[in-house]
Amino acid sequence: MTTAIDYPALLARHVATSPRRMTPELFPYDFAVGNPPPEALPLQELIEATARALDREGRDLAQYLAAEGYLGLRQVIADKMARHERVTVTPEQIIVGNGSLQLIAMLIDCFIDPGDTVIVEAFTYVGTLRLLRRARARLVGIPVDEEGMRTDCLAETLHALQQQGIRPKFIYTLTNFHNPLGVDLSAARKRQLLQLATTYGVPIIEDDVYGDLRMEGDTPPSMLAMDTAGSVVWLGTFSKILAAGVRLGWAVVPPALFPYLIDHKLDSATNTFASLVVAEYLRGRLDERVQEVVAVYRSKRDALLAALERHFAGRATWTRPKGGMFLWLTLADGTDTEAALEQARRAGVNYYPGVAFSAMGDSGRNSLRLAYGYPPLSAIEEGVARLAEVLATPSH
Ligand SMILES: Cc1ncc(COP(=O)(O)O)c(C=O)c1O
Repeated sequence: MTTAIDYPALLARHVATSPRRMTPELFPYDFAVGNPPPEALPLQELIEATARALDREGRDLAQYLAAEGYLGLRQVIADKMARHERVTVTPEQIIVGNGSLQLIAMLIDCFIDPGDTVIVEAFTYVGTLRLLRRARARLVGIPVDEEGMRTDCLAETLHALQQQGIRPKFIYTLTNFHNPLGVDLSAARKRQLLQLATTYGVPIIEDDVYGDLRMEGDTPPSMLAMDTAGSVVWLGTFSKILAAGVRLGWAVVPPALFPYLIDHKLDSATNTFASLVVAEYLRGRLDERVQEVVAVYRSKRDALLAALERHFAGRATWTRPKGGMFLWLTLADGTDTEAALEQARRAGVNYYPGVAFSAMGDSGRNSLRLAYGYPPLSAIEEGVARLAEVLATPSH
């Protein structure tokens, strides 16, 4: 249809002139999407929880609730934070959002004017990158090694910025099972990061949406648990242990920030219907659920590591995540994983090229992220074999 309106001429400055639409298309060997395992969805239990929740509290759905969300779910979250993270938080410190991504968007809305500086890991979550770029933040990417964000580099950066009269608005960091790198922030680094945050007066956004998916070792203390100065905003989600489609995540917010942040929740309380159901389903069985789903992730991770050993040994290096759903594969210099993607897709294989996660947009060309939550266990070996073949014989 032709239109009389010149829409591009009317758009706000932050709107991209050539919008990219994410294709919801899934591939037979799909290592791109950060979805939880579909086969582990507890459908029958969710149906039963829905009936029980509606029976008991369904009439309350007629109401608009306070912007922080359904109290019953915030109580489940506060209880989870006490048991899993060993932090005492009250439901009054928690905001439920349409996924943790909404809370990231609210934080950016709350803190960022165009040109403001934000510190992130050199490779980080694409959703946050997109929102930060849209807000025209100036991104500073800090290198990451096997212990997470390099706090020595962070200290140098903060110092250099201070010399220029710049105070970053916040430090956004992924603590457990990094997306995309698959590494963890060590306890020593967490302490250093907190110290730096206090010294320079910069808050930390601790994004721990994968922390529940631990396959090895005990849960280490979060920065939120170590924080005595109200420097940390903590993010969690039900997307990875339950279903991305429930669109429920949360933030634990320092009291001094809470009134400002809640003011940026412009869509009223997040889906009370989904909140009722999820609270009803998880109450009393959260740990059992986490164990069930982690077992599925673990078998897929192990299958992926074994397949990489068979098909990439000597040709690539990769991280060995102790949990979560991602690993980072690095190929020989000169490989272009973005250019190879089309050929991979023709072979039925999908992945995310490394450069997509680069905060400065300039590195990761010879790397790619493999996500192992979604593909069926039985498809992993064949998917990796096909990927190895595509990357060995580039016609791109
Ligand atoms: C690091 C990180 N943070 C936040 C999110 C947002 O998840 P959700 O909005 O489903 O809670 C994701 C999703 O993949 C993620 O990888």
